Amino acid sequence: MSGFQFSFTPKTVPQINTQYRRIVTKIPVPESIEILQDLNKYESISMHGQLPVVWDRADDFQVYDAWGNQWIDFTSTIFVANAGHGNPRIVKSLQEVLDKPLLHTYTYASKERADYLKYLIDHTPVQFEKAFLVSAGTEATEAALKLMRLYGQKSGKKRPGVICFEGNWHGRTMGAQMMGGNWTQKEWIGYLDPNIYHLPFPYPWREEAVANPKAYFQRTVADLIRKYNINADTDLCGFMIETFQGWGAIFYPSEYIQEIAEFANQHRILITFDEMQSGFGRTGKLFGYMHYGVEPDLLCCGKGAGSSLPLSMVLGRREIMDLPEIGSMSSTHSANPMACAAGKANLQALLEDGIIKKSIPLGELFHEKLQAIQGKYPDYLRYVFGKGMVAALLFYDHAGNPLPDLSYAVCEIAMQKGLLVVCTGRESVKLAPPLSISEEALLEGLETLDEAIGEALEVRP
Ligand SMILES: Cc1ncc(COP(=O)(O)O)c(C=O)c1O
Repeated sequence: MSGFQFSFTPKTVPQINTQYRRIVTKIPVPESIEILQDLNKYESISMHGQLPVVWDRADDFQVYDAWGNQWIDFTSTIFVANAGHGNPRIVKSLQEVLDKPLLHTYTYASKERADYLKYLIDHTPVQFEKAFLVSAGTEATEAALKLMRLYGQKSGKKRPGVICFEGNWHGRTMGAQMMGGNWTQKEWIGYLDPNIYHLPFPYPWREEAVANPKAYFQRTVADLIRKYNINADTDLCGFMIETFQGWGAIFYPSEYIQEIAEFANQHRILITFDEMQSGFGRTGKLFGYMHYGVEPDLLCCGKGAGSSLPLSMVLGRREIMDLPEIGSMSSTHSANPMACAAGKANLQALLEDGIIKKSIPLGELFHEKLQAIQGKYPDYLRYVFGKGMVAALLFYDHAGNPLPDLSYAVCEIAMQKGLLVVCTGRESVKLAPPLSISEEALLEGLETLDEAIGEALEVRP
């Protein structure tokens, strides 16, 4: 978000009562204002800026407040609830750990942790032989940075160079922000790591990147090497790649990623994908990188890894994962037994209950309908990107200027109509329904979105 806060003034809106949506009060709800104001008063404002809905209960693909309103959820609480809110398998396994009780174990062993790790490694691609479990996504990307650099040291590299991308996002801690490609967000650091480099992103509106993705990579990496006097064999240990660029759900051309893999292989450089948003089925495959036809060395996941409790991880080959000394890479909340129980039940739900598989045709329908919506508003809705159950709508004016105000208006009107979407704080609106959503609810949500865009454009000055 970028300093924008939705209005806390309750507004009379049309009442809605459908199978999946119910709006029976003013929005925001007058009785909820005190809670919202308490949060403003007692919590850092940096946590704020989302839609003013006070969540009371969330079940599968619906969110409820305490005053009788009910929304279709196209947020999955920011890409977390892939298996659905309160997935019964997850609730049951959490209940079992709660009933013991075993709420925390630090890195003392637990059966929950061993069971989860075994299941995770058995059900992910073969090169992922070990995992490092933490809580936040930013910890996972920091850990991958460390692992890539330890690998570089061990293999005799002279500089700990890591290549990242313009516009990508890897979290809010220092290493993650150094790797991130948003310049203003890292001004607070006061200096830049001289061994973290950024390549331009092959955006679909960059003609050179679209015309020949491989040549675009070769040209831009050659420029980088020249500019920083890099020896690709001795000065680079890793690539950090956000599988799709988050704010706009923008994927790279596959040939571009394949060319990175070629280059990395030639110069013994590790490839890490940051799968925080794209992992655990979101794009129709278990991991988003699987769309590119390459195999990474390291994978950073979080969010949908547990569909609920804080759980994130790095996955990789044994030789890389075991580089840190015994006891030298852990965190107090690593591998919490509740998080592990949720993680295993989540993966079982996604794979054994067929949630990912069933979401594939839904994802196709989702994008087909979104293309039709774009066709209705071509003057403002310039792009619709994404794959599977993630999409982003990007709004621009005739001159190509981004329209964040229009995206806020779409989010706000959708909320008033019983649909929750992700407000990115810029010109995009992101959509990420739980993969378990029914076709009927998905279609109802899309119709609501269509109406919200139409109304937002009608009231535009
Ligand atoms: C691609 C990506 N990487 C890393 C992160 C950081 O995750 P967390 O907020 O759990 O620290 C995020 C969070 O939005 C993300 O989208």
